[in-house]
Amino acid sequence: MGKYIIEGGRGLYGSLTIKGAKNSVLTLLAASILTPEKVVLHGCPDIGDVAVMLRILRKLGCKVERTDDIVEIDSSGLHSYKIACDPAKELRSSVFMLGSLLSRLKRAKAVYPGGCDIGLRPIDIHLAGLRELGVTVGERHGHIDCDGTNAEPADIMLDLPSVGATENLMMACVFLNGVSILRNCAKEPEIVDLQNFLNAMGAKVRGAGGSVITVEGVKRLHGVEYTPIPDRIVAGTWAIGAVMCGGKLTLENVIPEHLSSLLAKLPKSSCKIYPRDGKITIESKGRPRAVPKTETMYYPGFPTDLQAQMTALQSVSDGTAVIVENIFETRFRSAVELCKMGANITVSGNTAVVRGVPELYGSRVVATDLRGGASLVLAAAAASGRSEIDEIHHIDRGYEDLAAILPQVGVDIKRE
Ligand code: UD1
Repeated sequence: MGKYIIEGGRGLYGSLTIKGAKNSVLTLLAASILTPEKVVLHGCPDIGDVAVMLRILRKLGCKVERTDDIVEIDSSGLHSYKIACDPAKELRSSVFMLGSLLSRLKRAKAVYPGGCDIGLRPIDIHLAGLRELGVTVGERHGHIDCDGTNAEPADIMLDLPSVGATENLMMACVFLNGVSILRNCAKEPEIVDLQNFLNAMGAKVRGAGGSVITVEGVKRLHGVEYTPIPDRIVAGTWAIGAVMCGGKLTLENVIPEHLSSLLAKLPKSSCKIYPRDGKITIESKGRPRAVPKTETMYYPGFPTDLQAQMTALQSVSDGTAVIVENIFETRFRSAVELCKMGANITVSGNTAVVRGVPELYGSRVVATDLRGGASLVLAAAAASGRSEIDEIHHIDRGYEDLAAILPQVGVDIKRE
């Protein structure tokens, strides 16, 4: 389990280098089984969700080796189409393996997926898309059993621009004999990364980043060595932290364009932002001003994965802020924990009203989910006094050991 102990009240000074995006790495790992040849991914973060995904791959018969940030996958020995129950329950991305397993083996079986408890996370759009491709999908006793023997290309309209469904269907279509068209696709940078990765393996995928993606089937894919995009959510978390705590923080290895919705908002808090050549520097002094309204939206809108961190920033800003969560319904659970630190937040349905207080005080709080947990780390770093954050396995799912990383920029944090 473990906890973080943070002595707050110091600024963030120095630089942090951002590693590969969790949400890209997980998808690319799922896609790595599309070829029996070796796939090498660089810049992979050492985080819980990646470890679970590697366990899933091993249980399917893949050889997986990790050396520092480099992960090598050899799926020539892939012998099973059943995604192992235990790891899959922990990780929502395991459902993305349905598409790649169907492409490789024509069969796939999974349990209903896990992941953060941040509201209802259905997979109906994934399954409807697979059915439109002619895949037989059986749902029984909490299992999803797919048979893709008769799969063929189709023209599919997604009900919502779901990130996972878009990725799953891209992978399900790569070997179908003809052109598949996916409409109303998610436009997140991770989808573009998947397209680039698949095309680097020899696939013919076009249109990612826009709402229509076409996949022209090919006979086979080959091995590849690839570096996933940097994690825009981790970068955004520390950018928000620099505004909350004050200081001068440079984030290396970022693509500022991927953070444009956040970078458009932060200067309203009175910080200065200098984006240049794959890095950004955030300089902030004094108490931040409230950003009146933040509403989460599909990309390029404000990411739901930065909503909790933005709520934490508003809790110490001067003025009142309204935060509207449009993607996942119960994503304000960490607000209750922030209130234990002195924040003044009222939640009603999908809207939080945050009345900024001059200062938070150190407290004992509990991480309830990944991004909510990160918001508590920021709050504790900005607060006066000592905080203890319990249940940090949630934070470990998406952030490398913060007790090793954050002291580099002046945060007094220990892991127990
Ligand atoms: C991905 C990200 C997650 C991020 C989310 C939204 C990964 C591993 N995770 O999750 O960090 O918070 O995108 O940017 O990449 N929906 C349905 N039916 C479905 C699928 C989704 O109704 O079959 C709904 C969801 O309930 C949600 C919305 O669509 O309201 C968006 O979800 P989706 O984009 O699918 O999120 P994930 O792919 O699970």
